[in-house]
Amino acid sequence: MTLDEVLQGPAPILALAPMQEVTDGAFWTLVHGYGGADLYWTEYFRVHDTSTPEKWILDAIRQNTTGRPVIAQLIGNDIQALVRTAKFLQQLPVAAIDLNLGCPAPIVYRKCAGGGLLREPQRIDAILGALREAVQIKFTVKTRLGFASVDEFDRLLPIFAKHSLDALTVHARTVAQQYRLPVHYDRIRQAVETMPCPVIANGHVYSAAQAEELLTRTGARGLMIGRGAIRSPWLFNQIRQQLRGEAVTLPTGRDVWNYIRALWDAQGFSDKPEKVRCERMKKFLGYLGEGVPGAFWHQIRCTQTAADFHRICREFLDHNQPMALLPVDLA
Ligand SMILES: Cc1cc2nc3c(=O)[nH]c(=O)nc-3n(C[C@H](O)[C@H](O)[C@H](O)COP(=O)(O)O)c2cc1C
Repeated sequence: MTLDEVLQGPAPILALAPMQEVTDGAFWTLVHGYGGADLYWTEYFRVHDTSTPEKWILDAIRQNTTGRPVIAQLIGNDIQALVRTAKFLQQLPVAAIDLNLGCPAPIVYRKCAGGGLLREPQRIDAILGALREAVQIKFTVKTRLGFASVDEFDRLLPIFAKHSLDALTVHARTVAQQYRLPVHYDRIRQAVETMPCPVIANGHVYSAAQAEELLTRTGARGLMIGRGAIRSPWLFNQIRQQLRGEAVTLPTGRDVWNYIRALWDAQGFSDKPEKVRCERMKKFLGYLGEGVPGAFWHQIRCTQTAADFHRICREFLDHNQPMALLPVDLA
C-alpha cells in the first residue's frame, strides 16, 4: 500500500506515532501483528552539521515487515544538514520525510530544535522552504501548538500552509505543557479549516469511542496514536470496528499477558543481564501497567529478575476477563 493510497483512501488514517526507544522495527512488526497502523513513523534522526543517520533506524526502514508506508522523521535546525539528510533518506524505502517541531525535551528545545523551533517562526519558514524544495517524495510536519501558548498556533499555521506540505500532524499541546492535560482539540479543528493538506490529530487517544468522537469533532483526516498503542496494540483494530459500527472486541487478561511476552521476546536482549531486561520492560509497562487493576504496576516496578517479572504477570493476567486498559482519567 502506498502513502497516496493511504492519504486518499476513504477510511480515516490511523498512524503509529514516532516514539524514541519504542517504535523500532521490532515494535512496528509486533503492532502490525495485532492489525496495526496504516502508517509508521521512525524515531527521529538527530540532524546536525556532522551527523550521520542512526544505523538502527536505517535498519528499521530497510527491514520494514509491515507492508505499510514508513515516514522518516528528522529533528534539527541546520538547514544544510537537514537537506543533506533528507536527500539521502529519500533514496531509501521511505514514503515521506517528516520534520519534528514538537519534542519537549529540554536538551533538544534548548538547542532550538524540535519544539524549541516553535519560538522562531521565521526560522521554521526558512527550514520548510529548503526542505520542500529538496524533498522529491512527500514532505510532512509534526508539530505542537506553540512553545508557551496555544495562541502561537495562529502565527504558525499560515507558515505551514505556505509550504505545500503533504500532511500536518498536530499534537494539540504546547511544548511547555509537556504531556499534561488538557489537549486542545479545538486547535486541530482550526488546522483542518486552514490547511490545504490532510491534518492528522494527535494526543491522548486511548479508546475507540474517544477516537471516533475526536475525528467527528475535529474533522481530521486521521489519528496518530502513541502511548495508547503501547498500552493496547489492539486499539487500531478497535477503532476500525467502532467506525464500522461493530462491537469493539476487548482483549482478555491472557491476551494482555501474551502481548507482554511478545514484547519481551521482541527486545532481542537475551545477552543482557536480567536487571537490564526488566528495566527495559518497565519502560513499556509504565504505559500499560496503569490500565491493569490492582497493584500490578506497583509490583512490576520493583522487579529485578525475569522470574519475578513473569510471576507477577501470571498473577494478574492469567484470566479471561475483558480488559479496557484505560488510563485513570478515562476509566
Ligand atoms: C517515549 C516517547 C517518545 C517519543 N518520541 C518522539 C519522537 O521521536 N518524535 C516525535 O515526533 N514525537 C515523539 N513523541 C511524541 C509522540 O509521537 C506523540 O506526539 C505524543 O506521545 C502524544 O501522543 P499520545 O498521547 O498518543 O502518546 C514521543 C512520545 C513518547 C511517550
